[in-house]
Order: sequence, then structure tokens, then C-alpha cells
Amino acid sequence: MAFIPPAYVSQDELADRVGALARALVPRLRCEPIVIGVMKGAFMFTADLVRQFHALGIAPRLDFITVSSYGFGAQRADAVAIVQDHSLEVNQAQVVLVEDIIDSGHTLKTLQSHFINKGVAELLTVVLLDKPSGRATSVLVDSVGFTVPDGFWVGYGLDYAGNYRGLPYIARIQP
Ligand code: IMP
Ligand code: MG
Repeated sequence: MAFIPPAYVSQDELADRVGALARALVPRLRCEPIVIGVMKGAFMFTADLVRQFHALGIAPRLDFITVSSYGFGAQRADAVAIVQDHSLEVNQAQVVLVEDIIDSGHTLKTLQSHFINKGVAELLTVVLLDKPSGRATSVLVDSVGFTVPDGFWVGYGLDYAGNYRGLPYIARIQP
């Protein structure tokens, strides 16, 4: 990875927005929510969000689910596979599903059905980036960090072919 792209959403803007998302979500949280981050892209967002919850007096349990959309690099596909499921029992629980980006909507739609089928009491979906230009199916989301224009977004957990996940800000690249 030679090229380091400039920030489109800076670290400060991310921190402010994640704090605001947490403050808006906390009144909706029940006493024992389970936060489930979607791997790998949401790892950084999930980590920051749960720290904000703690600062606001909410101590959620935390789990992760790994999905694959059968794509590599900037390609996407409709088929979404759950590569590794979460392990906490979610039946009757309030689940906060944390995802990096919604593009076509297939991934979140698949995940939402997955959790509804497991009998969650309530599912809240939080997504850091919304790319409405890519939408192919309608999905309801409870909170969005930033709505972004078409393009390929990396950093703060999001990758291009495995690169850029550790960038502390969001950038747009030309794949
Ligand atoms: P969807 O199923 O088309 O909504 O795509 C969602 C998944 O595709 C996300 O969880 C990401 O892993 C990946 N994805 C879509 N757009 C981007 C992007 O701009 N950058 C990085 N990953 C993306
Ligand atoms: Mg993802």
C-alpha cells in the first residue's frame, strides 16, 4: 500500500459524530443491550461506539458476526454469507447491529433477517456510512453517521482488498 489517500471525514469529525450517535441511541437502549459489530469493516466504529456508551453509563455486552459478500476489492455481489456467527444468546434481547457502510443493502437486509429469525426483542441498526447511490433493495436503518456520495470508501475499518482498514479517518479512493 503505497498511496495514502487524504481525509474526507477527519478523525475529529468521526469522534464528534460517533459521540452524537451514541447520545441519540442511549435513550433507546434497554438495561442489557447486546452490541454486535459486523466484521471486519465495523471493528473500529464498534470499538468507539461502545466506549461512548460506557461514557454515557451504558455497559452493553459485545459480540461480532463475520459476513462475506463473495467479492474482492471493489466488486460486490448479491450473495451474502455468514462466515462466522456471533456467540451470545440474542433471543429476547435488544440487539444493536453495527455496520460500516450500506451500499446495495443486501448485507444489512440479510443480517436483519438473521437476527429477527433468532427472536430478538428489538433490533437497532447503526451504520457509519450510507451510500444511497448503490441501493438495490430497501432497508430500514435506525442511525446513520454520514451519507456519502458514490465512490469507494476506505479507512476507519473499511478496506480495499484488505488494505486501509487501520487508517484513522475516512477517505475515498479510485480502485
Ligand atoms: P451492500 O451489501 O452492497 O450494502 O454492501 C455492504 C458491504 O460491502 C459493506 O459491509 C462493506 O463491507 C462493503 N462495501 C460496500 N461499499 C464499500 C465501500 O465504499 N468501501 C468499502 N467497503 C464497501
Ligand atoms: Mg461490512
